[in-house]
Amino acid sequence: MTDNLAQQIERVGAQLAQAQVVACMTGAGISAESGVATFRGGGGLWEGHRVEDVATPQAFARDPELVWRFYQMRREGLLTCRPNPAHIALAELEQRCPRFDLITQNVDGLHQAAGSRNVTALHGDIWIDRCTACTHEQRAVGVVADMPRCASCGALARPGIVWFGEMLPPGALEHAAEAVSAADVMLVIGTSSVVQPAASLALMAKSTGAVVVEINLEPTPLSASADVTLLGQAGEIMPQIVAAMSQ
Ligand code: OAD
Repeated sequence: MTDNLAQQIERVGAQLAQAQVVACMTGAGISAESGVATFRGGGGLWEGHRVEDVATPQAFARDPELVWRFYQMRREGLLTCRPNPAHIALAELEQRCPRFDLITQNVDGLHQAAGSRNVTALHGDIWIDRCTACTHEQRAVGVVADMPRCASCGALARPGIVWFGEMLPPGALEHAAEAVSAADVMLVIGTSSVVQPAASLALMAKSTGAVVVEINLEPTPLSASADVTLLGQAGEIMPQIVAAMSQ
């Protein structure tokens, strides 16, 4: 680690220790060290699958079995994934901040598994089955071969995630916008910051006076507007930031 990065981490730790309201946006990169594939770049999740074949409402209407096979495969891959030190550091940060809002684009449930409580899952939750007829939602019973059916009315269920071209869960964006507007510090971790409306939340935080701290392996379109971009693995940097709060 360069001195420069160590100094930046110390400064961010001190800012967090002073903050009354902290917001955090996470993306696929925070789960990469847990073994979950990211979307863009080599090894991305959509490799071998055209998005429009598996992640749109039209695809599900056309071939629900294909779409369910894909999501059961994703669920199966997640069964062996565990929260990494970055997820765990965020759960600890939540305990230490008077107000802490975690907004995630991830559907993998690893923040909740790490102990985070106040989580807004902007793109839904892969472990939810949602009825296509009555909109009843139920937790998935694990990975199953048959297409899940609604426990309430018996109709076909679908994965409870946001597909391309769909609206975000009701109220999720409004809640996230309120949280980032109130924030003194906003952390943006492991997201390429190219998918809207999630990407605009950090700019909203900046415009309402928050210090915006980005943590990523590489610069992103947000980097020009962020107060600081810490380049490196979230699983290494986040525990150091939380430790620096006590110094
Ligand atoms: P991306 O795959 O677009 O970006 C992942 C980011 O994480 C990249 O900028 C990487 O450089 C960074 N990264 C990778 N490993 C990292 C590590 N160990 N530590 C820190 N950073 C790391 O994922 P998202 O930005 O989350 O939407 O993608 C946003 C949305 O695009 C997803 O939620 C999904 C997709 O379309 C839906 O499914 C609706």
